[in-house]
Amino acid sequence: MHPMLNIAIRAARSAGKVIMQATEQLDKVEIEQKGSNDFVTSVDQEAEQAIIYVIKKAYPDHGFICEESGESGNTASEYQWIIDPLDGTANYIKGIPHFCVSIALKVNGKTEQAVVFDPVRDELFTATKGAGCQFNTYRSRVSKAKDLKGTIVGTGFPFKVKHYKDAYLAIFSDVFDDTADIRRAGSAALDLAYVAAGRLDGFFEIGLKPWDTAAGELLVKEAGGIVTDFTGGHGYVSSGNIVSGNPKVVKALLSKIRPHLTPALSR
Ligand code: IPD
Ligand code: CA
Ligand code: CA
Repeated sequence: MHPMLNIAIRAARSAGKVIMQATEQLDKVEIEQKGSNDFVTSVDQEAEQAIIYVIKKAYPDHGFICEESGESGNTASEYQWIIDPLDGTANYIKGIPHFCVSIALKVNGKTEQAVVFDPVRDELFTATKGAGCQFNTYRSRVSKAKDLKGTIVGTGFPFKVKHYKDAYLAIFSDVFDDTADIRRAGSAALDLAYVAAGRLDGFFEIGLKPWDTAAGELLVKEAGGIVTDFTGGHGYVSSGNIVSGNPKVVKALLSKIRPHLTPALSR
């Protein structure tokens, strides 16, 4: 195993411990609103510090781009860690046991290591660029679906950007017509990990952030899948509009999305 992946796993497990310990006294967790329908807890912040502590100890010269504390460390380094310490905070606050830790390492702008860790189920999804995707100790692969027939597709609702509601629901309706069913589980990083594991045949969401998707993107690619924006391009890195799955599923999803594209969704 690559030594940097090893450190990322150690950091993710350390954050997982912080997160799970706090669930024992969920009423003591402090909750703050940081944006429209967007909350942060003391646990998000403590978990993030636990991750930074582990990585910094091993690699004191690396930089960090974290959801809660922003940029820190050596921001000029070729090594940048992209961290979402708790993806699925809304689930966590409500006591819904579906959330994860997401850690990615970019080297000169390209993601080379990825970890998504579900501390509730003790499920670990990892990838190293060029070396495939692992789910626990097994090799992980995206589903073999040829089109949307019989598929289960994951999505996220645009709850932080509700002005996309009409376009989103039109897309949802057309996707729903052809799939077996749709899931909205509440953790985009886990959704992408589930695509990489073949549990979900595909996934789409509007307006995700780099820390939601950096690790999951490499997992999907190393599991034989692809990630695109709503036009089939690479704009998702800045827009956060994401479609994912095996190439055939992504093609089918894009054909459902295309009639509903607005300028804001075409990037
Ligand atoms: C959120 C989750 C959710 C997605 C949101 C994300 P957070 O991340 O991934 O599934 O729908 O867009 O912001 O805020 O819980 O880290
Ligand atoms: Ca997130
Ligand atoms: Ca988060």
